[in-house]
Amino acid sequence: MLPILEYQEQFLHYLAQQNFDKEPRNLYEPVDYILQLGGKRLRPVLTLMTADVFDVDYKLALPAAMAVEVFHNFSLVHDDIMDDAPLRRGNTTVHEKWNVNTGILSGDAMLILAYQYFENYQPKTFRKLAKLFSKTALEVCEGQQYDVDFETRTDVTIPEYLKMIEYKTAVLVAAAMKMGAIIAQTSKENSRLIYDFGLNLGLAFQLQDDYLDAFGDPKTFGKQVGGDIIENKKTYLYLKALEFSKPKEQEQLAQLFSLQLEDSSEKIETVKEIFNRTGAAQATQKAIEDYTLKAFETLEKIDVSQDKKELLKAFGDNLMNRKV
Ligand code: IPE
Ligand code: IPE
Ligand code: MG
Ligand code: MG
Ligand code: MG
Repeated sequence: MLPILEYQEQFLHYLAQQNFDKEPRNLYEPVDYILQLGGKRLRPVLTLMTADVFDVDYKLALPAAMAVEVFHNFSLVHDDIMDDAPLRRGNTTVHEKWNVNTGILSGDAMLILAYQYFENYQPKTFRKLAKLFSKTALEVCEGQQYDVDFETRTDVTIPEYLKMIEYKTAVLVAAAMKMGAIIAQTSKENSRLIYDFGLNLGLAFQLQDDYLDAFGDPKTFGKQVGGDIIENKKTYLYLKALEFSKPKEQEQLAQLFSLQLEDSSEKIETVKEIFNRTGAAQATQKAIEDYTLKAFETLEKIDVSQDKKELLKAFGDNLMNRKV
């Protein structure tokens, strides 16, 4: 196994070899822009690491890792349109830098490009990867639709929220890992367990994303802080704040989350104060930890050596302590 940063470097090296310098420029330039914008590269690193964990040359997993990262970036381009987000990775979002139509079509092209990377595999592996990918991509769409539906709903429950983040975020983290397992041709049980590990890590990851959206440092976060509050997203923070409030405060919170304002700065401050005072912020931190620990429990059941488990654990711990 390599140090985590080394997988990232190998992935970036592979990414640098890809050619998006094609015509028409208005289609491919945004593809290149978003893919070069940086980001943590978590999902491709997980694909490579998992291949390595199950004893196959991780380089064989590079095309699959690329498919996952291109798909993730496609989902971000469309997500930023849907969330009306101005900033991504500290830079202007694609639809703001170009326009919404460009964001839609370049995103569509990226979805196809992602699939094409599986053509690097033999038919048997190709079929397994493509099948998993199709299922996952459809679930991401379902999760994204729930996310948008919830903006205008007032009766969203915690189980509904958890299902929504499982679909929009966790299944891709899980699938990224399972692809590594498929390429390594490990046992069905190992594949299932690594998927489950990724799923719980992914849930913790989205809870953390929600937390940082409210409480991240604007100087380093890279996205618009308070964006979820502006868009009336029914996050764990919001649902827990409702649960922990008295009826009068519940009413105030629900009222705030029905507004669409020109300037939301005051709303953001009030809501963050409520998230803190009610204990919702703390409860979210606790949930992040719980899902991470649940992931680690699954890890214990996987049939690989302890040092490999330690590396995956270190990865999970890093995620829990991230600031971006
Ligand atoms: C952002 O994902 C979208 C979510 C699912 C929360 P990341 O936080 O992995 O974004 P990058 O790729 O590092 O920018
Ligand atoms: C994004 O969720 C999930 C997908 C892109 C599929 P968010 O909307 O919370 O992601 P960010 O915060 O914009 O990165
Ligand atoms: Mg978003
Ligand atoms: Mg979104
Ligand atoms: Mg978010």
